[in-house]
Amino acid sequence: MSNPELSVPTKVLEHRDKLVSTLNYHSKQYYLLDQPELPDAEYDRLFQALKSIEEAYPSLRDDTSPTQRVGAKPLPEFESVTHLVPMLSLDNAFSDEDMHAFDKRIKERVKSDASIQYSCEPKYDGIAVSLLYRDGVLVQGATRGDGATGENITQNVRTIGSIPLALVGAGFPSVLEVRGEIFMPKKGFEALNTRQVAKGEKAFVNPRNAAAGSLRQLDPSITATRPLIMCAYSVGYVEGHLPSTHSAILRQLELWGFVISEQLDVVTGAQGCLDYFARLGLERASLPFDIDGIVFKVDSIALQKTLGFVSRAPRWAIAHKFPAQEELTRLNAVEFQVGRTGAITPVARLEPVFVGGVTVSNATLHNRDEIDRLGLCIGDTVIVRRAGDVIPQIVAVVPNNMGESREPIEFPCECPVCGSLVETLEGEVVARCSGGLVCEAQRKEAIKHFASRQAMDIDGLGDKLVEQFVDEGLVNKVADLFTLEGHSIAGLERMGSKSAENLLRSLEKSQSTTLPRFLFALGIREVGQATARNLAQHFGKLEGLIAAEESALQSVDDVGPIVAHYVYDFFRQPHNIEAIESLKIAGVHWPETEPVERKSLPLEGKTFVLTGSLEKMTRDQAKERLLKKGAKVAGSVSAKTHCVVAGPGAGSKLTKAESLGLQIMDEATFIEFIETL
Ligand code: IVH
Repeated sequence: MSNPELSVPTKVLEHRDKLVSTLNYHSKQYYLLDQPELPDAEYDRLFQALKSIEEAYPSLRDDTSPTQRVGAKPLPEFESVTHLVPMLSLDNAFSDEDMHAFDKRIKERVKSDASIQYSCEPKYDGIAVSLLYRDGVLVQGATRGDGATGENITQNVRTIGSIPLALVGAGFPSVLEVRGEIFMPKKGFEALNTRQVAKGEKAFVNPRNAAAGSLRQLDPSITATRPLIMCAYSVGYVEGHLPSTHSAILRQLELWGFVISEQLDVVTGAQGCLDYFARLGLERASLPFDIDGIVFKVDSIALQKTLGFVSRAPRWAIAHKFPAQEELTRLNAVEFQVGRTGAITPVARLEPVFVGGVTVSNATLHNRDEIDRLGLCIGDTVIVRRAGDVIPQIVAVVPNNMGESREPIEFPCECPVCGSLVETLEGEVVARCSGGLVCEAQRKEAIKHFASRQAMDIDGLGDKLVEQFVDEGLVNKVADLFTLEGHSIAGLERMGSKSAENLLRSLEKSQSTTLPRFLFALGIREVGQATARNLAQHFGKLEGLIAAEESALQSVDDVGPIVAHYVYDFFRQPHNIEAIESLKIAGVHWPETEPVERKSLPLEGKTFVLTGSLEKMTRDQAKERLLKKGAKVAGSVSAKTHCVVAGPGAGSKLTKAESLGLQIMDEATFIEFIETL
């Protein structure tokens, strides 16, 4: 029972304080660093323990308790707040010259030629906030608004785990305005959108919009469910003492419980800034959150004071922007491409636009659902996003630009290449052409795949040449490749008799292959190299595989009901059996092996990494030999690696293997090892 009059025993007080700091610590590990150290249930137990103490001694329950982050009632509207010190904006730099000019202006203004120290941080792509602490307690949170007045979002900021409700430690100013950015990390954004769509609600366009929408909630219990983070980047009004450089102030804020940038650094002069800019530019795509540039600030607060402000931006800071990752453009048309498996992919043809550092004129639209989700029509103004090396995407339609000339996008009922019916199987989102190899698009893609390096490895038979063969009617099915004649090849554009001869030679060479390669080359849906290898090893002979029932197929490693069904189906179609027979007649052959139980392979369960160059064989050949013996071949070294095969020129993988004390073999030892297995 609660008893407000009860004096609190010291033991309880100590226990309460311990629980508060433990909960604050673990909430940071969980929300911020994504490195939870406690199971959720244990966190909940500690949380409940604190709640029980507060119920028994209500005088202990104050606004700074972790139990009080969520709990306030929805507001009818946001009140406005006047900032004690205006929230400024930043000037932008877009080039090296702009940065040199910025540095020069500063030196001229302070009349000194000495190099300037700059503090550098990412420019987060989120929402600016100002947090007011009185005697170390959070009393107000506000948006930037017009810089002079913003909206009171105290209830909402209180739900954000990375914002301290009370400052930790001592020595803080009696009044302290902390400024920073609230943003949503990429992972949290994706998870939130998945949840939104599952609930039948609209997905957010980008993490910035999601952060803004989450903060603008009148009901703080909604904000509380959103994965938001606040990074502190400066201070506003201060009554009290702070360190004398910007970077030291941020480090001090960190000690008081704020999150600051992990990338915070201090560099010298314009060149130091440009080097930092280039370095972070490379890291940008792999950072867990969006950034749109780097903010450089004169590190010395005394110098900042000397420099002062021009209109609404400080003279001592600048934002060097990265190329924008999102731009507006017009959707001119949608075309439908047919892939190797008949999958029909809508592709957006865009008015060319410079985004993410390149000119983009096409974007994938994935499937019909994506077009519906976006509510897309031809003629719409759309937001195109290109981040890192990812294929450009349309993230949204700009609503007020939906002009009268909008034209709906008709998803074809017939294949745009061969005219066969387009089908969408139950439970699938992808629409497919039902024409199989009758469809020229599928035929071309199937032949390209058949010839590729990992499949039949027909050297010199590139994509362009395959297209010419099909267009000229020289190759209609894969087996036709092996009956090509020198003179008809030499007659093609950009082909001479020498290249024709070479191609004939590689075609002949490729005829002697292996069963895993052949199976992979057939292009059975969902049968990649690894599955092809498992199937070949399991059955040993093609006939056994062709005759296998779905249940027998499912007993193969990594083959589930879906793959088993595709494989079974493939061999039930007469045109596929015909294609295999014609290939055999044309001379394609492989050594047959006895069916192998996987567990009896000597290297089963062992992981190898190949690095450096090998002399007696290619790395692919070495890999094939290892796989045949049941080993796994990985691309990177970890504690799970059993052995690293290192040839001349091996670099960081070898160093890492050495530091982990792993087994290392040179090529000669490896050959001996694999041959004696
Ligand atoms: S400093 C007086 N540092 O950029 C200096 N701003 O135009 C005021 N921003 O909306 C800003 N990351 O919210 C600073 N590391 C950073 C920042 C940053 C993002 C935003 C800020 C404001 C805009 C400035």
